[in-house]
Amino acid sequence: MLRFFTVPCLALNPNLILEIGSNNGCRFTKNETAMKEALEKVKREALEAIKTIADLARAKALKAQYLGRKGVVTALLRNISTLPPEERPEAGRLGNVVKQRLEEAFGKALHALETGLGEPRGEALDVTLPGRPLARGRTHPITQVARAICEIFERLGFAIVEGPDVELDYYNFEALNIPRDHPARDMQDTFYISDNVVLRTHTSPIQVRVMESQPPPVCIIAPGKAYRVDSDISHTPMFHQVEGLMVQENISFGDLKGILTTFVHQIFDEETSLRFRPSFFPFTEPSAEVDILCVICRGKGCRVCSRTGWLEVLGAGMVHPAVFEMVGYDTDRYTGFAFGMGIERIAMLKYGIEDIRKFYENDIKFLEQF
Ligand code: PHE
Repeated sequence: MLRFFTVPCLALNPNLILEIGSNNGCRFTKNETAMKEALEKVKREALEAIKTIADLARAKALKAQYLGRKGVVTALLRNISTLPPEERPEAGRLGNVVKQRLEEAFGKALHALETGLGEPRGEALDVTLPGRPLARGRTHPITQVARAICEIFERLGFAIVEGPDVELDYYNFEALNIPRDHPARDMQDTFYISDNVVLRTHTSPIQVRVMESQPPPVCIIAPGKAYRVDSDISHTPMFHQVEGLMVQENISFGDLKGILTTFVHQIFDEETSLRFRPSFFPFTEPSAEVDILCVICRGKGCRVCSRTGWLEVLGAGMVHPAVFEMVGYDTDRYTGFAFGMGIERIAMLKYGIEDIRKFYENDIKFLEQF
C-alpha cells in the first residue's frame, strides 16, 4: 500500500507553497493571475492524485491534505483576504469552483471505495483483445409452451382472445354461475382488490366477455395469467392458463373429446392417450377432469404420477345453460364446450420439471436449458 503514498502533490511540495505564500512568514503574491495558476495547479495535481488512490485510508488522507482544515485549498482560500480588494471576488469565485470540483471528485472516489462500486483504478485497456460475445436472451419456457399451445389451437380454427388480469367479480364468478357466498368459491382462493374487483382466478371471464359481445358461433382460446392465493411445489400465486370455448348448434361432448385428443397428441405425442373422469365445475355440465397417460413412465406408475400411471392436465365440460342465459344465448338452439389448462403444468410434464417455482426464480442456469 505504501507505494500509493508517493503521489506528488502540492502539500508535499514546500517550494510551491512558498511561492504563493503561506502562514509561515512569507507574503502571498498579490497577483490574481498567480492565484489562478496556483488554484489550477492544485486542482490538476489533486485530480491526478485521486486517480491513483486504491484504498479508503489513502483517500481520506489525501482529502484532508487538500480540503482539510490545514489543507492546501483551505490555505489558498484563506489567503484570498490578503489580495487587494478588487481582486478578491474573482479569486474567491475561482477558489470555490476548485473546492467544489475537488469535493465532488473526492466524494465519488470515497463512495466507490466504500461501496466497492466504480472503476477499478489503474486497469489498462487492451484494445487488441477480441470482443466478448454478447449474451443473447431467449423466450421464457412458459412463453414457448404458451405459443406452442396457441399454435395448435389456431390450426384447429380457434381465435386468440385476451382480457384484463384485474377483473370484475361479475365476470370472474357470477356470470360463470358462481354466485356470491356460494361454496364453489372456495375452489379458488382469490386475491380481492375490493368487494367487486378481483385478480382473475382463471381466464374463463374472457369467455363471458366474448359471448357478451357477439352471437354464436364462438371458437376461441383465451391464454393469460391467472392468480390464486396458493404457493408450494406445484402452485405459484401467479400462473398461466389457456382456456378454450366452442359454441354453435349441435356441439357435443364428442367434439370436445376430438379437439382435446388432437391437442394432446400434438403437444406431447400420438402415444399419449387420454381419459375423462367425471368432475364438477359450476360453469359446465357435465364436467370432466382430463388425464393423460403419464409421459414419464407411460402408465407403469412412477413418482410424477403418484404411481397411478395418469396425470391430470385439464378441466373441461359442456357449457352450463345458466352461463348461456347470463350472456343471452338461446339455450335451446346452442350448445358448447369449454376447457381450461395450466400452462406451467404442461411445461413441467413436457420437460420433466418437478418444482413449478423454478420458472420464476430467474435462475439463468435453469432458463438457458430451453
Ligand atoms: N376455469 C377452470 C379452472 O380454472 C377450468 C375449466 C375451464 C374447467 C373450462 C372447465 C371448463 O379451474
